[in-house]
Amino acid sequence: MSTVAVPSGQQRRTAELEDRISRAPETFRVMTGDRPTGPLHLGHYFGTLHNRVRLQDAGVDVFVIIADYQVLTDRDVADRLTAHMEGLLLDYLAAGIDPARATVFNHSAVPALNQLLLPFLSLVSVAELNRNPTVKDEIAHSRQSSVSGLMFTYPVHQAADILFCKGNLVPVGQDQLPHLEVTRTVARRFNERYGEVFPEPDALLSAAPLLLGTDGTKMSKSRGNAVALRADADETARLIRGARTDAERHITYDPENRPGVASLVLLAALCQDRDPHAVAEEIGAGGAAALKRTVTEAVNARMEPIRARRAAYAQDLGYVRSVLRAGNERANEIASATLAEVREAMGAVI
Ligand code: TRP
Repeated sequence: MSTVAVPSGQQRRTAELEDRISRAPETFRVMTGDRPTGPLHLGHYFGTLHNRVRLQDAGVDVFVIIADYQVLTDRDVADRLTAHMEGLLLDYLAAGIDPARATVFNHSAVPALNQLLLPFLSLVSVAELNRNPTVKDEIAHSRQSSVSGLMFTYPVHQAADILFCKGNLVPVGQDQLPHLEVTRTVARRFNERYGEVFPEPDALLSAAPLLLGTDGTKMSKSRGNAVALRADADETARLIRGARTDAERHITYDPENRPGVASLVLLAALCQDRDPHAVAEEIGAGGAAALKRTVTEAVNARMEPIRARRAAYAQDLGYVRSVLRAGNERANEIASATLAEVREAMGAVI
């Protein structure tokens, strides 16, 4: 497990929410999503995808946004957008997102959602936008020579993503907490100024441990160090064979001192629903070669049904696209109703 410090208040709140979810799932609407910049990988699967499916199966109304406009925050052009959107849809369906129960949509297809951005922008100051630590970090890592207005304001756009459907629960990793604060601020200020329209959504902190990429750094679509859901068994074996380990032969689970080895052990443990210490102990003197064999087998066994479903859906892209069309239709209905409410509350309807 990673040892990221989480404020205990947030942790307690998350435990409370999990309890309420199990007792009254129908009172929650979850909003989550991804930027369509590349295929989802094992870090996404164990970090968020798996959790979305769990919430959906528990009876929560789940909305999944393909954040196409958000791709443009740190690059000039959204490259191969159609292919990336189809790829995400395939990953979602393969992982168990069920279009009969969940709504998958992309925000450029929902004009009324985007229009909420205008009144929302009026509710936050430039100084507040300037202070957002996640945006600051993204700006620091951006390859663009200047910061676009979209980069600067996207947390407010994300507030529109969440509030258009009155989402009240947002599963997040630690890095997305500042964004959720923006959403809560926007909702609160709107309600104060114009009357009660929006819920103040809660963060559902992910308990997911951090998986590192095969080079020992953060697993990421753009770093070429990730095993994609769609990778086949051979590619998986090749990637894991090349993963960075260390000179110590005996395998232990020690994330602090042996991050590369620990991440591989953790990956096998997650795939097998086992405790990482037990996995490490079993391999022990077998060394890195045995570890990599175990991980490869575990990943391929766990992913086999997901990959088979993905391949089957890939044969029927007409159906896959119809899933997005239906999701967009539902999102548009909801967004139009919310925008009407907003305009009414602002006194803009005569
Ligand atoms: N920012 C998220 C990411 O980069 C994607 C996203 C866009 C999102 N809108 C959202 C997530 C609303 C949750 C809620 O992955």
